Amino acid sequence: MIVLVGSQKGGPGKTTVAVNLAVQYARQGKDVCLVDADPQRSAARWHADREEQGHQPAIACVEKIGSIHQTLQDLATRYDVVIVDVAGKDSKEMRTGMTAADQLVVVVRPSQFDLDTLGHMSEVIEQAKDYNPTLDVRGLITQAPANPSVTERTDAGEYLADFPAIRPLETVIYERKAYRDVVGEGLGVVEWNNPKAKAEIEELAAELMG
Ligand SMILES: Nc1ncnc2c1ncn2[C@@H]1O[C@H](COP(=O)(O)OP(=O)(O)OP(=O)(O)O)[C@@H](O)[C@H]1O
Ligand SMILES: [Mg+2]
Repeated sequence: MIVLVGSQKGGPGKTTVAVNLAVQYARQGKDVCLVDADPQRSAARWHADREEQGHQPAIACVEKIGSIHQTLQDLATRYDVVIVDVAGKDSKEMRTGMTAADQLVVVVRPSQFDLDTLGHMSEVIEQAKDYNPTLDVRGLITQAPANPSVTERTDAGEYLADFPAIRPLETVIYERKAYRDVVGEGLGVVEWNNPKAKAEIEELAAELMG
């Protein structure tokens, strides 16, 4: 299975979601390959930290820029799960990734700026579906305010209702320090001490497989 994590806005949490999903699937005993298709190399650097610290389970990592379609198809024959992280913009990597992926997870913060990108994203999705009609497109709200006094909408269904090409995920990823803390350690939140963040990633991983 190829899961592509994408957005047309920088910084909503794509890399965070990608590396945490990779750890969760690896802990389930799956053979996981993380593909870093962002020239900024954030996922690759996280992976290098993980290797350096010797954390188990091991996860494979491949860096590929430009057209990634063929690479993803090849990796999918060798790994149970291929998780792809791309840059926060409309890129060749994102477009070619969409033509090979089984699932696209569109990551947005609950903010108008992120929401504003979804019109264009929907057009890119429609084009990708000409080549890849079975692409399953899911919307994920990330960095939702964890403070209960902030009454922002976090229900993805309500939030994404204007974009029928994007099927909302029930899982919401909240803004939690744990997501920032684990990155420098080469770990995932499922290997950390915050049960709420751990539960979110477990739920997300299960929902995507389900
Ligand atoms: N759920 C979260 N809770 C707290 N902090 C988060 C969360 N998700 C991401 N962050 C933080 O927000 C910043 C951006 O996250 P990340 O690098 O994952 O986003 P991105 O979408 O991959 O960005 P880019 O578009 O630049 O690739 C990082 O500092 C990260 O630690
Ligand atoms: Mg990133």
